[in-house]
Amino acid sequence: MLDKAETTDLIAPTPGLTGGVRSASKHDSGPKHVTGEAVYIDDIVEPYGTLHLAPGAATIAHGKIIKMDLSKVRSAPGVVCVLTADDIPGTNDVSPAHTHDEPVLPDGIVQFYGQPIFCVAAETREQARAAAKLADIEYEELPAILSIDDAMAQKSYVAEPHVMKRGDSASALASAPHRHASRMVIGGQDHFYLEGHVSFAIPQEDGDVFIHCSTQHPSEVQHNIANVLGRPANAVTVEVRRMGGGFGGKETQSMQWAALASIVAIKTGRPAKMRLDRDDDMIMTGKRHDFIVDYDVGFDDSGRICGADIQYAANCGFSADLSSAIADRAMFHTDNAYYLGDVEIRSYRCKTNLVSNTAFRGFGGPQGMVAIERIIDEIAITLGLDPLDVRTANYYGDDGRNMTPYHMPVEDNVLPELTRDLLASSNYRQRRAEIDAFNAQSPVIKRGIAMTPVKFGISFTTTFLNQAGALVHVYQDGSVHLNHGGTEMGQGLFIKVAQVVAEEFQIDLEHIKITATNTGKVPNTSATAASSGADMNGMAARNAARTIKDRLIAFAATHYKVGAAEIHFVPGRVIVGDVADISFAELVKLAYFGRISLSATGYYATPKIHYDRETASGRPFFYFAYGMACSEVMIDTLTGENKVTRVDILHDVGQSLNPAIDRGQIEGGFIQGMGWLTSEELWWDDAGRIRTHAPSTYKIPACSDRPEDFRMELWSSGRNVEKSIHRSKAVGEPPLMLAISVHRALAHAVASVAQGKVVPALNTPATPEAILRAVLRLADDTVHIARSDSNDRQEKGARSAAMAGVSAPQAGA
Ligand code: MTE
Ligand code: MOS
Repeated sequence: MLDKAETTDLIAPTPGLTGGVRSASKHDSGPKHVTGEAVYIDDIVEPYGTLHLAPGAATIAHGKIIKMDLSKVRSAPGVVCVLTADDIPGTNDVSPAHTHDEPVLPDGIVQFYGQPIFCVAAETREQARAAAKLADIEYEELPAILSIDDAMAQKSYVAEPHVMKRGDSASALASAPHRHASRMVIGGQDHFYLEGHVSFAIPQEDGDVFIHCSTQHPSEVQHNIANVLGRPANAVTVEVRRMGGGFGGKETQSMQWAALASIVAIKTGRPAKMRLDRDDDMIMTGKRHDFIVDYDVGFDDSGRICGADIQYAANCGFSADLSSAIADRAMFHTDNAYYLGDVEIRSYRCKTNLVSNTAFRGFGGPQGMVAIERIIDEIAITLGLDPLDVRTANYYGDDGRNMTPYHMPVEDNVLPELTRDLLASSNYRQRRAEIDAFNAQSPVIKRGIAMTPVKFGISFTTTFLNQAGALVHVYQDGSVHLNHGGTEMGQGLFIKVAQVVAEEFQIDLEHIKITATNTGKVPNTSATAASSGADMNGMAARNAARTIKDRLIAFAATHYKVGAAEIHFVPGRVIVGDVADISFAELVKLAYFGRISLSATGYYATPKIHYDRETASGRPFFYFAYGMACSEVMIDTLTGENKVTRVDILHDVGQSLNPAIDRGQIEGGFIQGMGWLTSEELWWDDAGRIRTHAPSTYKIPACSDRPEDFRMELWSSGRNVEKSIHRSKAVGEPPLMLAISVHRALAHAVASVAQGKVVPALNTPATPEAILRAVLRLADDTVHIARSDSNDRQEKGARSAAMAGVSAPQAGA
């Protein structure tokens, strides 16, 4: 019903209501997170007889298992059972898209170094882990593909290449006044959620199973486990109260661990828990895809792009997982905020003998955007322009310049206004001039500044996933039980949806019980992903609450003999014309005695969207989320050490459901993006072994890496032209890409070594080593001068003062 999807235009919290929409309510679990009272799966009291699991890992990247002698494993102390591929009761497959290329345990063929090939269940975790090391396995090695280049050369793909195009890019390039071609190498990223993967399966009657699983996608875990067990979906119940972070890493990667725990629980009749050790988690689960981007762009004297040819190659690892959708989203964000003229985008999904890469905040979008932002800087350097002017010259505009490469017009572009506002508040122009003047007289320390926009498409590009369900009960005392298909991973989804229900019933937030996601309550849900958790579950929960509210209104109209239009829900109370003024709880009680149902489901399907992948055209997104960041950095050209000295962010969350939660998402997303682009470096050796599988060798941002001066604001003119939930905008992923401004500011600092006249081919991550290499490549002579200058005492003093507080580069980072 259309009127149910309609939305209010509330611009401020409702006076007298505590915790309705637009209020900065704190995260419902905030105090419990900091006191340690929040129950994560490994905190659940273990029933008597619980078994603990440990995976046994392959020690080659690719090959046949010719002998697997597990007798020592089986006879080790405490071992109760050992699983191999032969022990899987149903289908040996946990591939999310049913590509059947991802076994629970492989049947004879190893596909990556560290792949789990058997699994031990023992009385204690220590016993299971110790036993897992006792296997006697012989392999016949096969050639392994360990790089994107090798995969491209051998045409090794997990899915067909895909093309998106508009116009004739070849002739646009041929006739362009200027042309620039290059290659960018983009690194991957480990999710580094604080809580690693964990699944706890408890056997039920009749061979059924109940699983506590740290997953963003309970329904898919349910369906996959049913297949693995050879049972119908109704034999499996999956519950998740909260994750200690997911970031996309628990959209599909939870399946294997849930499957192993379930099989052990069914086989032994005992509860079974699989909690991965951090190193195993980093070795055995997928990460952000690393990419290679080859590009050729044509542009005019003002820096306007008239044609582009962009080719992506994504490292998908050994299986398809979500790689097709992720590689597609990179293509959808090739343009970021810019009209590219005639354009062809090709994408290759490379199959390698590495762990299968997966969703990570932005879902391929960041990889698409980081390339176009470097391209824009290169155009600016080529023409001697301020990169910001090249950016704004290329912004989507009116008819004729508002068409994306996938033939969806951009109708809600707020970037010109947002840019104007951030230009004023950040004082970018003046600071850039000051920085250029500083760099001209500072031989060793160089500063950089960059302002970059974000335009991010909101909706799952697989259209059918854009649906959600909710379940709301009102009890006789007026308290409310809220459930929906979304999962909580720290992002504040549960509080936002509760606020929506509080607003609908006009009752304080404290009357609404937030409950664990459970496949027995709301079925057939989509992953909590694509940033659309609040958009979709908020609408579904509101529709459920409206159904109950409509029944209450109809009941009160009859009971008090008034027209329905005379009944108003105001904070805490219900006003029935001039006949009655009663509390919400009193009305609920009366309705119960009047035999009115006080429980309802709610459902929502995102309107307007459609997409034809064959022709790569349609409207895949309901709307776009926008933001912009201005970052300033400082580098030491002798060591590559760097720090972020100031960041200004303006981000458009539409009209915020909860400004406190949204601010947290923007800060967190930005810092996580900064980690991806600067310090987090994944490294595999020639045998295909990942050697950065612990925080000792993998450097995520620490508190001290926070920008010294961090000014972040929700954009006050923010609005959603579409009828989203209370006109808010999704906020989970878009802010990650604001961090591209840091990478571009680092490039500005590096370019200053050659007076800003040479393009620094800075890849990601821009670690201190990478920055140093870029500096050396750019201007060896300049650096020699700098070196002798730095012997000067004064310069040395100035340098250590300027860089005080910069953390030393980490080993392996
Ligand atoms: N914030 C926290 N604290 N923890 C997370 O795991 N995941 C991000 C983002 N913000 C994440 C997070 C990702 S990848 C997505 S898609 C969204 O939250 C999902 O939640 P939402 O749809 O409710 O925004
Ligand atoms: Mo987020 S990468 O869509 O889980």
